[in-house]
Amino acid sequence: MTDYTIVYDIGELVAGPGADAPLEVHEDAAIVATDGTVEAIGPSDELQREYPPENAETAVDADGKAVVPGFVDPHTHALFAGDRSDEFEDKLRGKTYQEILAAGGGILRTVRATREASETELLDNLLGQLDAMLAHGTTTVEVKSGYGLDVETETKMLAVIDRADEEHPVDVIPTFLGAHAVPEGADTDEYVDRVIDEQVPAVVDQGIAEFVDVFCETGVFDVEQSRRVLEAGMEAGLTPKVHAEELSHIGGTQLAADLGAASADHLLYANDEDMDAVAESGVTPVLLPGTAFGLGEEYADAQGFMDAGADVAVATDFNPNCHSQSMGFAQSLACVGMKMTPAEALIGATKNAALALDRDDGLGTLQEGAPADLAVLDAPSYVHVAYSYGVNRVETVLKDGAVVYGDDR
Ligand code: NIG
Ligand code: FE
Repeated sequence: MTDYTIVYDIGELVAGPGADAPLEVHEDAAIVATDGTVEAIGPSDELQREYPPENAETAVDADGKAVVPGFVDPHTHALFAGDRSDEFEDKLRGKTYQEILAAGGGILRTVRATREASETELLDNLLGQLDAMLAHGTTTVEVKSGYGLDVETETKMLAVIDRADEEHPVDVIPTFLGAHAVPEGADTDEYVDRVIDEQVPAVVDQGIAEFVDVFCETGVFDVEQSRRVLEAGMEAGLTPKVHAEELSHIGGTQLAADLGAASADHLLYANDEDMDAVAESGVTPVLLPGTAFGLGEEYADAQGFMDAGADVAVATDFNPNCHSQSMGFAQSLACVGMKMTPAEALIGATKNAALALDRDDGLGTLQEGAPADLAVLDAPSYVHVAYSYGVNRVETVLKDGAVVYGDDR
């Protein structure tokens, strides 16, 4: 046995965005990984001679099927306690997201449940969500705090996110979202002071969070309040992200551009100036078509962002209000709802999603030197990821060159 991994007899290998075509696609290919990174891509017969599967530590016969980079989900609220499935019907009957929140439901209800939950219970919940994500081909996921809204629970959430990252093969990237909602009974400006004076220092002291995010929205945090939170986080070394123009247009996208945020997310109500601003400032627009689908809202204008020259990322937004862990489903919605091509959706769910997380080490591609994170599909082409609505085409997943879902053969 030698220390390499080979996936061979791949009918269609998508290595990432292409130079002359939307995607770099290799047919009848194999991919070899050593030390968790991609060492070589080439014709299967040649690589099988050079790296015999029978001598490999890990060998996967793809049997003529397609291989894509592991999905990178750059926006989730996957850590929470409680159940809000009853709100699904309320929304179908016409209650708005804001009405539910104003009545103490929505985020505030999840906050109550999350404050009460033990770390063990929260960890079990998150590990279960990560299992579901991995089974759907996700190998890296961003998870936000934001269901604590106090020092104790925000740091508890980040500690659980960190434990899950250690215990689960999926890479988990932590974001501090203390400014997710105003706690019941609190004044917004006073709460912003608490986020800045109490939560940011505690979170930075804890040393887990990488990003700071804020829900910049009518009735939640306005642009100035959002700016104060993000600047405090930045001064303490966190990288900003913004929930912007999700339910109304108030200027969160321009704020993201001003601050040089890693991403501006949602953007359902973004206008032409916003599209130019993110493209010019290098902020990655993260579009979450599952949220529009679930709320019955109009989808974000993906084409507008692409025309402006931005690298559009796609995410699930998995949370109690948008209950899908599947990046395949997000890509179906990106195509059907936002008219992205399957190739654009796949790049959005891989390479561009990595950009939204400030990763430019090849994550989200299978180019030489990139992390060997990949999914073997039960399908002849990557197109089937988006084309198969609500059906999981992922058969086997490798993380850092090791099989972490499905079988090696
Ligand atoms: O991205 N908009 C704010 N946060 C989430 C929803 C969280 C929740 O409803 O629990 C979002 O859609
Ligand atoms: Fe969100």
